[in-house]
Amino acid sequence: MTSIISKNQDKTIHYPYSTDNNIFQNLVGYANNQTKLYCEINHVSDRKLKGQIFTPPKIASFMAGLFISQNKKIRILDPGAGTGVLIAGICDRFIQENRRNLEISIHVYENDKKVLPFLKSTLEACKLALTEVDCPMDYQIFDNDFILHHAKIEQDGNCSVYSLDLKTRYDLIISNPPYYKLNKSSPEALALQKYVYGQPNIYAFFMLLSGMLLSETGEMIFITPRSFCSGLYYSKIRRWFLTTLTLDRLHLFETRKDLFVDDEILQENLIFHATSVLPTKEGKTFVSVSYDRQFTQYQELTVPSSDVAYCRGDDCYIRIPISKNDLKIIEIVDSWPQTLNTLGFEISTGPVVDFRALKHLRTTIENSNCVPLLWMHNIRGNDVEWSLDKNGKAKAIEVNPESKNLVVPTRNYVVLKRFTSKEQKKRVHAAVLNAEQFPEFEFIGLENHLNYIHKKRAAMTLDEAYGIAALLNTTIIDQYFRALNGNTQVNATDIRVVSMPDYEKIVAIGKLIRKRDSDSLSDCDEAILKVLKIKKDLVSN
Ligand SMILES: C[S@@+](CC[C@H](N)C(=O)[O-])C[C@H]1O[C@@H](n2cnc3c(N)ncnc32)[C@H](O)[C@@H]1O
Repeated sequence: MTSIISKNQDKTIHYPYSTDNNIFQNLVGYANNQTKLYCEINHVSDRKLKGQIFTPPKIASFMAGLFISQNKKIRILDPGAGTGVLIAGICDRFIQENRRNLEISIHVYENDKKVLPFLKSTLEACKLALTEVDCPMDYQIFDNDFILHHAKIEQDGNCSVYSLDLKTRYDLIISNPPYYKLNKSSPEALALQKYVYGQPNIYAFFMLLSGMLLSETGEMIFITPRSFCSGLYYSKIRRWFLTTLTLDRLHLFETRKDLFVDDEILQENLIFHATSVLPTKEGKTFVSVSYDRQFTQYQELTVPSSDVAYCRGDDCYIRIPISKNDLKIIEIVDSWPQTLNTLGFEISTGPVVDFRALKHLRTTIENSNCVPLLWMHNIRGNDVEWSLDKNGKAKAIEVNPESKNLVVPTRNYVVLKRFTSKEQKKRVHAAVLNAEQFPEFEFIGLENHLNYIHKKRAAMTLDEAYGIAALLNTTIIDQYFRALNGNTQVNATDIRVVSMPDYEKIVAIGKLIRKRDSDSLSDCDEAILKVLKIKKDLVSN
C-alpha cells in the first residue's frame, strides 16, 4: 500500500511500504507511528528497564532544527536510536530546506533487538524520501552497545585493561540517550574510568563518548536530564565537556511534568547544542525556556557563554540564566571575591546516617552519654529547635567508642537542609546552631540530610554564623541556585563553589541580623543588600 509521507513544495514523496492507510505529515510523523506500533507490543515497564523513553515528535523536530552545518557531505550518528525519530527529524530538515546533492551517511546504534525492525522501517522511509530529492543516503545499523563498541579490552597478565577506541568521527550526533545507572565495575564504567565519580549513569557516558567522536567542526544535539549541570557526580565529565566543546544553545523545560508524560518520568530536561570548537571568552550562548513539550510560553535570551559554562579551578558548572534578572544575579555573585574556603570555613555533610546508626539512636536523653540529634525538621526560620518531635524520629544519639566519630563538638555552626521540596519558597534553607542552646552537651549529632558549615580548626563566632546563614537565605542566593541547579537538592560542592563577599561584610550582616532578632528570612533581604551595596531593584523579579 502506498501512502503520502511528505509534501515538499512542488514534489510529493511517496512511501511504498506502509502497513496501513496512515498519511504522515513528515518523516517524524512516520517514525512516531513506528514508536506507537512498538509500544503497543512492548510494555512500559520493560521499556523503562532499557532506558527506552522515546522523543515526542515536536521535540524531535525542535532538536533537528538546531543543526547548523551547511556541508554537502555529512556523517550523522544516533547512538541509541530507538525507532529513529531523531534521524527522521534531521532528514525532514534536509527535505524542507530543499538541500540538494548532499552525501549523507548515517550510523545508528540500538542494542534492543525488539526495536530494530521499527528502526529499520524508519530509516528505509528516510532513505527513500531523500533519494526522491536527490540526496543519496546510506545508513548502517549497529545492533550492539554504543559504549562497549568503542571500548578496547586487552589482557595484561590476569588483568583486563580498558581503553577507548574512537574509530569514526561524525559531523552531527543527535541523541536522546538511555537513562539508567551502571555499576562502577561494569565494563562501560571501566572503559570510561577516568571520568567516573560515584555511581555513573549511562546518559552521561553517551554524552561524553559522543563529544569525543565529533569531527573537527562537529555538532552534537542532546536531550538529557539537567542533573549533569551541577553536583559532584558528573564533575569530571562536565570538566571535560566544558573545556573541550562550546555550548552554544540550550533549551530548558522548566517543568517536572508533562515532557515524557506517557512514561510518567518526572525530571527537569534540557536540550543542548554543542560544537567541537574550543570555548572563547567572548562567546555567546543562546538560551530558551518553555514550560511544556508544546513549547508554550517560549522565552529566549542571549547570554555570555562564560556565565553559562563556569569553571573555578577544577570545578566546572553549567548555569542556566533564563531571564535578564538571572544574569544580573550571576554577575553580582561572581563579583564577590571570596569563597567559604578562602574565608576559612568548610562545609561537610551530617555524619549520622539513621539506618546505619540505628543501635546508637535514642528517643530521649536516656543517660549521660546521650547527646541531641538534629534533623532537617529541627531547622526553623533562622534557628535550630531541638525540642520538636516528628513521627517518632530519634531525638538523641548515644556517644560510645563505636559512635564517637558520628558526633561533632558542640560549637556554633550554620546548618543547611540538603533537600527542599518543590513547593518550598527557597532552595537554600540555612539556620544557626547556637552552642549556647546546648550548654550541658560536649557533642551533638547531625543527621545526614543536613550539611553544616564550620570553621577550620576553630569555633565560629555567632556574628560569622548569622552572617553566613542570612546571606545563604537571601533571595539573591536563591535565584543564583535556581540558575545553577534544576533540582531541589543543594549539595555541599555547590555551596563550596559559590562566591562570597569579604569577611567584614559577612560579620556586618551577622551583627545586623542579631540586632534585628528577626525570624523572617525574607525580612532580612533589604538590610543585607544595603550592607552589600546592591540596588534593591536588581534582585526583585
Ligand atoms: C531514551 S531512548 C531514545 C530513543 C530514540 N533515540 C528517541 O529519541 O526516541 C534510548 C534508546 O537507546 C537504546 N539503548 C540503551 N542502552 C543502549 C546502549 N548501551 N547502546 C545502544 N543503545 C542503547 C534503548 O534501547 C533505547 O531505544
